[in-house]
Amino acid sequence: MTDPAASCPTDDRPTASAPRKRLYIQTWGCQMNVYDSGRMADVLAPLGFAPTTTPETADMVILNTCHIREKATEKLFSELGRLRETKAARRAAGEGMVLAVAGCVAQAEGAEITARAPWVDLVLGPQSYHRLPEMVARAARAAGAVIETEFPVEPKFDQLPAVAGPQAVTAFLTVQEGCDKFCSFCVVPYTRGAEYSRPAAAVLAEARLLVAGGAREITLLGQNVNAYHGEGPDGASWGLGRLLHALAEIPGLLRLRYTTSHPRDMADDLIAAHRDLPIVMPFLHLPVQSGSDRVLAAMNRGHTTADFLRLLERLRKARPDLALSSDFIVGHPGETAADHAASLALIREVGFAAAYSFKYSARPGTPAAGAPGQVAEAEKDRRLQELQALIREQQAGFNASRAGLTLPVLITGPGRHPGQIAGRSPWLQPVHLIGPLGLIGTEVPVTILTAHPNSLSGALATGEGQAHVQPRQEIAPA
Ligand code: SAH
Ligand code: SF4
Ligand code: F3S
Repeated sequence: MTDPAASCPTDDRPTASAPRKRLYIQTWGCQMNVYDSGRMADVLAPLGFAPTTTPETADMVILNTCHIREKATEKLFSELGRLRETKAARRAAGEGMVLAVAGCVAQAEGAEITARAPWVDLVLGPQSYHRLPEMVARAARAAGAVIETEFPVEPKFDQLPAVAGPQAVTAFLTVQEGCDKFCSFCVVPYTRGAEYSRPAAAVLAEARLLVAGGAREITLLGQNVNAYHGEGPDGASWGLGRLLHALAEIPGLLRLRYTTSHPRDMADDLIAAHRDLPIVMPFLHLPVQSGSDRVLAAMNRGHTTADFLRLLERLRKARPDLALSSDFIVGHPGETAADHAASLALIREVGFAAAYSFKYSARPGTPAAGAPGQVAEAEKDRRLQELQALIREQQAGFNASRAGLTLPVLITGPGRHPGQIAGRSPWLQPVHLIGPLGLIGTEVPVTILTAHPNSLSGALATGEGQAHVQPRQEIAPA
């Protein structure tokens, strides 16, 4: 049998002559790391690398790491210990393994990685992924580890290959990377570098390819996604609102989201996009971190709780069904019991549909790490539990408020049980229901029967609603 890919001139997959090699990527951290892992696989595909599901069978292993909290970083070193054995076992069997550490720990602690784990072959920061093929070739010749943690002058996005092949129903698309805000506690400005926005034309082209591959929902990514200011095709600087308008025109695309936003960068035209574009889902992740103005100032967030509440008022006016999620840090240096109480009060006042919360973790090199007033671990634990209990209550309440409603659900894949399919509500809640696999990739009306703490279950709406089921669209590649 011939491989149809080998005769297709536009296909990036290895030709029949390229040796097949197996690639295992483990990803920690934020959605941008998930996106980056996909792009690293795309870059390595022309070299003959195809994904595999275990490190034991892999010719190359990439650990895509996160540096945001101490725990996230420690995961890398315990995994490297395990992989040392795997690599030795493969060598004993006459097979090689290239071991690479990528992501934000690689960027921040390249030297420490090679010192603590000299069996690592490649260390590469997030701005060097386009150099992977060349690094793999250099590693084959080098005695020690090959390290790339500079911020190269050539923009990585111009060098990466176009996304190719079939896509999941929900896809990520990085439009902005890096951060200039320097919050007191955060490593991101150091690991991802200065803010950079991709040109709008490149974003639109990638979105069209994702949709051509089967994506129906795209989440635009950036560490400060709403600070997006890419060059438009008209030469003007486009904000995120303008970009959303252009993306909304892509035939076959059903839903748009964006994350993560900063309260300071919510421009008027972005708020208006929530009012004017039904394709923009009514769910916004807007980290506030604390409900105390004293702590917000110490964090260098550049906004007060009153600013945040005013912003929510405007957003809710633009899109009355908008639900919110956020991030909170408990135990930032200097946070008192009264400051913590102010965070709980803000949460009660806003009413979140979901939220992530973390104990403050001192990160080397950040201003807060050496600040006075470090909070005791036990006290951080207590505050975190209190805050999370309140969030859980609000999330359960929000989920319960959907029971009995008929919602448009984007079907994303098979469910866990036979006959079941799974999807997402407009508010990012997982929804389970009985239905045919043929509905995957379509948005269907679902009547919510039961609300669970973290998900919903329902049934395909019958009668009237069925008329609204959209047939799966076949979209020609752009
Ligand atoms: N760019 C996003 C978030 C990046 S990190 C933003 O500006 O909001 C994701 C979340 O991790 C942050 O919102 C914050 O809540 C948390 N975080 C970051 N650094 C942390 C630290 N040192 N300790 C605990 N949580 C932290
Ligand atoms: Fe980190 Fe603050 Fe930048 Fe977000 S805005 S990435 S929390 S420095
Ligand atoms: Fe972690 Fe880097 Fe993302 S530190 S949260 S992987 S930007």
